[in-house]
Formats: sequence, structure tokens, C-alpha cells
Amino acid sequence: MEGAPVNVNEFQELPRKALPKMYYDYYSGGAEDEYTLKQNVEAFQGITILVDVSRINLSTTVLGYKISAPILVAPSAKHKWAHPEGEVATARAAAACDTIMILSYRSTCTIEEVASSCNAVRFFQCYVQNTRGEIYIYANIVQRAERCGYKAIFLTIDSPRLGRKEKDIKNKMVNPQLKNFEGLISTQDDGSNIEAFDANTAFDPLFLGRYRDIGWLRSITNLPVLLKGVLTAVEVGVDGIVVSNHGARQLDYAPPTISVLEEVVGAVKGKVPVLFDGGIRRGTDVLKALALGAQAVLIGRLAVYGLAAKGEYGVKRVIEMLRDELELTMALSGCPTLNHISRKHVRTKHERP
Ligand code: FNR
Repeated sequence: MEGAPVNVNEFQELPRKALPKMYYDYYSGGAEDEYTLKQNVEAFQGITILVDVSRINLSTTVLGYKISAPILVAPSAKHKWAHPEGEVATARAAAACDTIMILSYRSTCTIEEVASSCNAVRFFQCYVQNTRGEIYIYANIVQRAERCGYKAIFLTIDSPRLGRKEKDIKNKMVNPQLKNFEGLISTQDDGSNIEAFDANTAFDPLFLGRYRDIGWLRSITNLPVLLKGVLTAVEVGVDGIVVSNHGARQLDYAPPTISVLEEVVGAVKGKVPVLFDGGIRRGTDVLKALALGAQAVLIGRLAVYGLAAKGEYGVKRVIEMLRDELELTMALSGCPTLNHISRKHVRTKHERP
């Protein structure tokens, strides 16, 4: 409607014109000089609301390393299927965004190639092996990562066996050569040994009951060790955990990670950092995960999609877009820094409105 009031102050003006003066004065008037009447309103103007969201600071640290936003790149395998430059491009993009990439040990560029691709802090992910020979390989690889300057080991424990991915079966998917294992597994034939190594036997089905193996891992490296793939609280003596269900690629009907985050955070009681991944697609998702107690989130598929679409630039844009969305979400929620994000900022389905 033309000329309709858009705020209450404009409403106040309408009766001044519409009502007889006596009636209007009766409603609007106050005592004597009307000093207090005016002051009642003006006194509000002297008070500022103390949340200055004109500048939002998204930076934080993970394991003591500063990053521009609480968004890291999750380990994922086979980046050369997405782009010829593979993990090297992903690593450069993460570095350009001042954040950290966790390199999968099933990468298509080697630990060394990624390490020399650019100057940045990087973490390394590995799995649990199950035979003596393979444990040798595993130690070798962890120690290579340490020598190349990777700053932490993420041990993925949600894959005692590989999940059954029916699309891969229908596609008759064949794994590419695992670059990090070249020369470690005998390749007298066409590399099929490496392929076999990558099958189910490469993972340790007993590991979930054998946390003492973390002691062994600690004995072969000086790097901090974090567990990735935790959905329920465990007492094992690690330097951090990642609440993750492997991007829903292993156990179907495992709970969505965001639904268990708070419970795990509650059990950890701040003793070690809790990171989170699974289903992050928006800046609002990042804020929700932080509000429920995560220190930072990891993105898996988003980074790979960025890489497939536009190489290094694509990964960079994906991280920047998420970062921009998070910044706007924080401004609109009155959070100038990550420390301002609290449990009060979210309400889950189970909480009464
Ligand atoms: C993964 N993920 C994974 N995790 C890991 O510890 N080692 C790995 O080699 C891989 N490989 C891998 C390949 C692909 C194609 C995907 C999509 C994921 C899991 C990954 O680290 C992360 O947990 C999930 O991707 C997070 O979920 P979103 O962000 O993809 O929803």
C-alpha cells in the first residue's frame, strides 16, 4: 500500500493528522515540561549494543597452527581422477586459502610431490594394516610423511573393511596405482599386487578392539596422532579426534555425524580438539557444527568437486565461498569471532521451540 508506515515511528505521525488535537494530545502528552517523556526515548540512543559485527574474524588454530577459517580439506583418495594435477593442485589451493590439507595415503601424487608443491602446513592420513608385511609398509609411509614435514597423523579407524559401494561395483571400478606404495610392494607383474593390497585385506578388522596399536603408532613417529572416524566416545590417549562416518562411504545406517557430534564433544570434555566432517555444504553448516562443539570442520566431496570442475582454482573458490558464507552467517548471528559461537545459537530437532 502506497505510503503505508514501515516502522512504529511513522505510525505515530498518522494520528497526529487524523485525530482532533485534544485527543491526540491526551494520548501523546506527558507531565509539565515533558522532559522525562523525551528522555525516556532519547536515553535509548545513548546505549550501543555491544556486538560489533562490522569486522568478523574467522581465524583459528588447529594443533597450534593458524588457519584463516575453521575449514580444512579432508583426506580423500585419487585426486588425479578429478584433475591431472591431482593432490598437488588441492594442496596449493588449501595453501592459498591459508588452511590445511590432510593428504590421504591413498593419493595419486606421492607424499613427496605434495610436500614439494608449495610451502604450507600439511597433515597426513593413514589406515590400519593387518599383516606384518603391511605394517612395515605402514611404518615406512608414516615416517616418510614425518620426514617430508607433515605435522600430524590422522589415523582413520572407520574402515575395518571397505564399505560396499554398489555404484563402483556396477562401474567395474579398478583402482589406480597407489603412488605411495610403489617400490614397497613387489610389482614383478603389472601392478596387480598393489591393487590387491588396496582391497579389504589392507585394513585391520580387529583394530576397533585394539587401541593399543595407537601405542605402536606413537612409537614410530614423534607427530601428534588423531583418530578419524569416531562416532562414539572412546578413552584412548590421542591428540585429537575427527567425528566422521567417512562421508557415508563405509557403514550405511551409521548415524549422520552432526547428530552425534554433541555427545562426543560432551564426553571428550575439552581434553583434546574435536574436528568434524560429513555433509558440510554451506557456511551455515559450519556454524552449526561449531555451535555443537567442533573446533573446525573438514570438507571432503566439496574439495574434490571444485578440483574436478576447475582444478586448483576450483578448490580455492570452494573454500573461499564457504568462508564467505560462514562470515555472513556469523555477522547475522551476532558473532564477531569464532569464540562467540555458542550452543545457544542452534536448536536441534529434539529441543522444544
Ligand atoms: C573419502 N574419505 C576418505 N577418508 C580417509 O580417511 N581416507 C581416504 O582415503 C578417503 N577417501 C575418500 C574418497 C572420497 C571420494 C570421498 C568422498 C571421501 C572421507 C573423507 O575424508 C571425509 O570423511 C568425507 O568426505 C566427509 O564428508 P563430505 O564432506 O564428503 O560430505
